[in-house]
Amino acid sequence: MSKIVVTGKIPNAGLEVLHKAGFNPQAWSQDTAMTRQELLKQVQGADILVTLLTEKVDNELLDAAGSQLKAVCNVAVGYNNIDVAACKTRGVTVTNTPGVLTDATADIALALILMVTRRLAEGERVIRSKTPWQWGMHYMLGTGVTNRVLGVIGMGAIGIATARRAKACGMSVIYYSRSEIDSKIANELGAKKVSLDELLSESDVVSIHCPSNESTHHLIGASQFKKMKPTAYLVNTARGPIVDEQALVDALKAREIAGAGLDVFEFEPKINEGLLDRDDVVLIPHLGSATTETRDAMAMLAANNAVAIANGKSPLTPVG
Ligand code: GLV
Repeated sequence: MSKIVVTGKIPNAGLEVLHKAGFNPQAWSQDTAMTRQELLKQVQGADILVTLLTEKVDNELLDAAGSQLKAVCNVAVGYNNIDVAACKTRGVTVTNTPGVLTDATADIALALILMVTRRLAEGERVIRSKTPWQWGMHYMLGTGVTNRVLGVIGMGAIGIATARRAKACGMSVIYYSRSEIDSKIANELGAKKVSLDELLSESDVVSIHCPSNESTHHLIGASQFKKMKPTAYLVNTARGPIVDEQALVDALKAREIAGAGLDVFEFEPKINEGLLDRDDVVLIPHLGSATTETRDAMAMLAANNAVAIANGKSPLTPVG
């Protein structure tokens, strides 16, 4: 029987899939992630790994697992924690969990758009800090999103779902994407494909939804911020390294953009100190897929991928 090692604590729904299929997974049950040393020990002899985005799957880990390793099933749609090329060279299949977290993540993108444009986190801090306040015609004014332009970078499933939500709020949508989207969806959204430079100069809110890889590393940096409107906002629910975080701090300080809503950070869980005391940024701790039902669905999909591979079948959602 295949040895399946689950390297982080996943919802029981995922473990049940493995048990029901007759496997007896070696599963980490503590809330805190394993140390790297522990991880390298735990993966030894695994046929299949079920991993979380906090685990770096590189040559060192693949060596530690051993040459019998068949697959790495990531419990995340993003897989920048995995050296996919190294896996491919060794014949190790990689899977992710697309689809099941689309709506949850798009909800968070919309929430960040509204929070940052309407200064909601800042307002909450006023109340919680017991700072005296009074309703006033000019008090804590934000920016409405109706009739504004949302620029989506990466028009995959989450980008499209965010665009739909923004459209319901009266925004128009432009996008920059590697691939064409279904013309029916483009028509439904009235979404226009543009170059990255056009997107940056025309958008009132730029929302990032592309994968994190070598070609998107620091896609948004100092020169991109200079192209944005000084009244525009940046929202990132994809991956931190897509944005040069220090350049973001500098752009905010120089008022090159109006604010940012961030769910992900370049050196997660470390946050650039320059962001922490700014009222023009909203910071939340990587909550994109953090609903009970979504996390269950992610764990179940990853487990079903593991079961399929262990049984010699094609995985449901392979990467690449
Ligand atoms: C979460 O960030 C994911 O990639 O699933």
